[in-house]
Amino acid sequence: MKTSSKSRSQQKSVKLTDLKRRLPRSRMLKIATLNRNEVERAQRFTVEAAGLYCDFSRTLCSAGDLEALLSFAKASRLTAKRDAMLKGARVNITENRSVLHTALRRPAGEPLKVDGADVMPQVHDTLKRIAAFSDRVRKGVWRGASGKTITDVINIGIGGSYLGPELACDALQPYAQAGLRVHFLSSLDPAAWRQIASGLDADRTLAIVASKSWKTLETSLGALAVRDWLLDQGIARNALHKHLVAVSTNIAAATQFGIKAQNVFPFWDWVGGRYSLWSAIGLPVMLSIGPKAFRSMLDGANQMDQHFAQAPLARNAPILHALVSWWQSLVTGSRSEAILPYSFGLRRLPAYLQQLSMESNGKSVDFDGRALRTPSAPVTWGEPGTEAQHSFFQLLHQGTDAIPVEFILPLPAKDDAHGSDLALVANCLAQADALMRGRSAREVSDVLKAQGVAPRDRTKRVPHMVYPGNRPSSMILMNRLDPATFGALIALYEHRTAVLGMLWNINSFDQWGVEVGKQRATMIQPLIESIDEQLLAGLDPAAQVLYRRIRVGLKQR
Ligand code: F6P
Repeated sequence: MKTSSKSRSQQKSVKLTDLKRRLPRSRMLKIATLNRNEVERAQRFTVEAAGLYCDFSRTLCSAGDLEALLSFAKASRLTAKRDAMLKGARVNITENRSVLHTALRRPAGEPLKVDGADVMPQVHDTLKRIAAFSDRVRKGVWRGASGKTITDVINIGIGGSYLGPELACDALQPYAQAGLRVHFLSSLDPAAWRQIASGLDADRTLAIVASKSWKTLETSLGALAVRDWLLDQGIARNALHKHLVAVSTNIAAATQFGIKAQNVFPFWDWVGGRYSLWSAIGLPVMLSIGPKAFRSMLDGANQMDQHFAQAPLARNAPILHALVSWWQSLVTGSRSEAILPYSFGLRRLPAYLQQLSMESNGKSVDFDGRALRTPSAPVTWGEPGTEAQHSFFQLLHQGTDAIPVEFILPLPAKDDAHGSDLALVANCLAQADALMRGRSAREVSDVLKAQGVAPRDRTKRVPHMVYPGNRPSSMILMNRLDPATFGALIALYEHRTAVLGMLWNINSFDQWGVEVGKQRATMIQPLIESIDEQLLAGLDPAAQVLYRRIRVGLKQR
């Protein structure tokens, strides 16, 4: 599409109100018609980067909308905001911190100065330390107190200190060292630890306490439970260091807990918890897949970083991804998005993206503390696609809301025997197609007629079998699920999240909304330990009844 210099300069000043003026027309659009009629749609709405093929053509965004969105992005100084983040400006204003998870995947020899100091030496020094440690464990040089090699690793951590490593270990399982199992203890529920512990031999177990702050209740209690278990199982106190290591920014607290200083692997406050997979928080991943494959994961992410930093707006995968998602939430009014990986290895991707997106962008005020005028992060949810087809896809196809869908499709390994690899791919493509096309009353009626259904019955049945269609979806195709493309995929979503935050003009890097609940829990615990009438009187009547009821239940255990 040719744009005159006049219209280009007009578009430079596109404002949110101008964009919103496009909404009524965009709401009338038919995705299938756009895909049929728009010249170059396949080129304009697809982009290839770092081993990922991103296809945003099945979305409610026309070529004209995209032009307007790109102009809006320019007018809102999106690239300047991106560059500031990548250069280490303190864009996390409420915590006065830089946001530099991208530094963690930079290759050696590329300095990055923040406030005059190069942060890269400490990054690579820590990478070397965790690589040396991982090699020793994997090669059986690191041994437990009784001289046995390690077969089981427990990562004790929650949120960002758990979701990314767990996802990466699952996704990269084919690269895992045989005979070295990684378990994740995140839940406060004692049942979780009981279940993990039941299969473990303490002599062969290594626990990693992973906590950025070292102030997280779940992790503190998990660490105590595991430490006590190790002691109960006969590991001498002075040999605990052979079974307990830590990852934290709070080195002092970790050593105070009893972990030897040389076994505490650091990271820094400029790495957000949910962006920390690439730091020493990735230790369980490195133990599983080895330092070389871990480096490939960092390189894949770094390739996406380079693309994000350098590709022009209209060809920039994370930026296009964010613009299209942002636009669709305005067009459909949908307050949710479904994440559907067609991949067993990526089965925990929805959980990972829930934290990434909702903890980052679940905010109601902008940088200046003013209430937002458009809704921010949608509810992110999802499940692996094949299983979900047999549970909630009914709602995606025929429910009253048009929920934008993200299909993530790593091309699977060959299955010559049964063809399940091709069936998996075909199912993913079929769902994207069906969501877009739908099925009209005429088509349904013809099918029923061909089946010999009588006209009266047809009339009754048709409305139930119509698919409205025009339901948007994006597709991220991965050449394969390997460390590099996995790294690129996660980096793509990290940058998309940051760009969405820039579009909403919010701070995507703090999480004040999680604090009040934690504080209330510490106030409430004494109330359920023993009913204190005076404290209880401060609660509303229904809460008083509930707490007494819980107290009775607890006594009966
Ligand atoms: O409560 C939310 C949170 O602070 C997340 O942001 C973080 O990923 C998680 O808890 C765990 O925090 P930490 O690594 O400090 O234990």
